[in-house]
Amino acid sequence: MEVVNTKEELAEQLAEWRHNGDHVALVPTMGNLHAGHTALVELAREHAERVVVTIFVNPTQFGEGEDFDKYPRTLERDKRRLKTTPADLIFAPDVETVYPFGIENATIVSVPRLTEEFCGAKRPGHFDGVTSVVARLFAIVQPDVAIFGQKDYQQQLVIRHMTTDLNIPVQVITGETVRADDGLALSSRNSYLSDDEREIAPQLYEALQYIGRELQNGKRNYDDLESAAVVRLDAAGFATEYVAIRRAENLGVPDRDCDELVVLAASQLGPARLIDNIVVTI
Ligand code: PAF
Repeated sequence: MEVVNTKEELAEQLAEWRHNGDHVALVPTMGNLHAGHTALVELAREHAERVVVTIFVNPTQFGEGEDFDKYPRTLERDKRRLKTTPADLIFAPDVETVYPFGIENATIVSVPRLTEEFCGAKRPGHFDGVTSVVARLFAIVQPDVAIFGQKDYQQQLVIRHMTTDLNIPVQVITGETVRADDGLALSSRNSYLSDDEREIAPQLYEALQYIGRELQNGKRNYDDLESAAVVRLDAAGFATEYVAIRRAENLGVPDRDCDELVVLAASQLGPARLIDNIVVTI
């Protein structure tokens, strides 16, 4: 799997593909690739002749005291993984390439409102970091389509908003969450879990599924369902930040008649902050 680190090398390859009339799909990642990422690469393949995977642990989306330093960096392993689920190119830039004026002088792209609650409230500045880096990657790669995972539900909504609002000519596609056999959503941060915590971790998804069933059964007491899930998770050993039932299209507060809901959760389990969600269509 070829890896390029500079914008010039990338541009050369992109120009050749464009010259041949190929479309380009982008799969932005922070590396430490797992089956969730390779599913996004496979989805990208369905939408374009060429697939670029970016691997960049973006410093601006990590807050103070978060796991930027210990975030797993596994480029050699990632390259091997992308041999079996082939991308065409890995773009693995350094910080100076992505932020040429330095992080202090970087232009910030910021989506209001959608970023105020949930992960945005808990991780101030996180989504500004995400949109700022994704806007840069879009400008550098100029893909026709870009693929993001549903596990980061709020993130993909924020990116869709930015892309539409700024008229960025990229089609944003969301790929389904990939789960371990016991239901735990795959995430690089799962590697922080001890064996005991890993046993408990699938309860996050179970709590979401429980709410999903209750909603399908006609329950509309959203607050009670959310609170019961928090109590249940915390009794199992989680420290839950939020469980929330919202409108799937924009995270607004749903009324009783809303028929497209998302149930979102973030919960700390030992050293790992786990997030997950399910969409419930009634
Ligand atoms: O979801 C991620 O891995 C990151 O937030 C992204 C989209 C690659 C931006 O750094």
